[in-house]
Amino acid sequence: SLPSAGFTMPRPDDFHLHLRDGPEMASVLGHMPRGVMHRVLIMPNLQPPVTTTEQALAYRARILEAKPADLDIEPLMTLYLTDKTPPEEIDAAVDSGAIAAVKLYPAGATTNSDSGVTDYDLVMPTLRRMAERGLPLCIHGEVTDPSVDVFEREAAFVSERLPLVLAAAPGLRIVLEHITTRAAAEFVASAGPNVAATITPQHLLFNRNELFRGGLRPHMYCLPILKTEDDRAALIDAVRSGSPKFFLGTDSAPHARGRKESDCGCAGIYSAHTALEAYALAFERAGCIDRLPAFASQHGADFYKVSRNTAEVTVSRKARTVPAELSFGEDCVVVPFLAGQELPWTVEA
Ligand code: NCD
Ligand code: DOR
Ligand code: ZN
Ligand code: ZN
Repeated sequence: SLPSAGFTMPRPDDFHLHLRDGPEMASVLGHMPRGVMHRVLIMPNLQPPVTTTEQALAYRARILEAKPADLDIEPLMTLYLTDKTPPEEIDAAVDSGAIAAVKLYPAGATTNSDSGVTDYDLVMPTLRRMAERGLPLCIHGEVTDPSVDVFEREAAFVSERLPLVLAAAPGLRIVLEHITTRAAAEFVASAGPNVAATITPQHLLFNRNELFRGGLRPHMYCLPILKTEDDRAALIDAVRSGSPKFFLGTDSAPHARGRKESDCGCAGIYSAHTALEAYALAFERAGCIDRLPAFASQHGADFYKVSRNTAEVTVSRKARTVPAELSFGEDCVVVPFLAGQELPWTVEA
């Protein structure tokens, strides 16, 4: 086991990050700890979405232009899958060398997902081309049928839709993003080596009671929504198992305070400023902090076939208090994950 006073580990990678664009992106880049996350998989749900390789390369150029010189991140880009994404776009993506994955949002599932997939038959030729070309598919795994209970949408996707996608595109590498349920954790654990999952810090730390603890807490609202304690326990068991199928993806998703504290609040939890500290807290509480380095720094790199990081970060038992808010975009603020709370760990490059 790792020393309780602190330890070093290889730099982590974040395989699910919403960086946004323009002034909001500049804020996120400013908040990200220096020398911690190395590769960051950039989500394409901008308005309009990043659907082509050309758009993704332009977005990547904006990221590199806005990136402070002392922030050493490597953006891995994704394309947003629509009903109309042609197989040829997959060839362009792979040939560009800059696109690490394609993201599938069922239409209507979450923030800016209106252009997502409405008819799976339409995307199967594109998914088969991805399997042929070795380009992974990231999935926001929730059904969107409004008659399905919001707490059941992931489990329904896993039992009803995911097996059809796997059967239609044999060999396709799939990451079920931000899993939240026992059903998803067990599906991924028992699937072939081509199926993996990311897990966020909030879904390891909290169950759905946190949404209503003493009142309605909009800053704990994200999609997929927090689930039951049994579901959280299954996610903890998944990371405690040490299985290489489970790895770090924060789903850090900032929205201005006014858009969260609203009569119709946006979904998204902003954790990029303090992600590794939050995961360390979750793993320590679960009694498996020795599983953190591989979860954060090896399993994702191996799945995405990028080299493992060799530079290190130090995780020290040194308390730090998360700010109550951070500046965000032009004249807005964002309330970060665990705002105002004291965390027992400090991460330094
Ligand atoms: C808010 C505003 O402009 O009033 N912005 C927003 O909701 N997009 C400010 C804020 O929430 O920080
Ligand atoms: O809570 C979420 N927010 N879930 C998502 O899938 C999207 C994200 C966002 O972009 O705000
Ligand atoms: Zn998602
Ligand atoms: Zn996301």
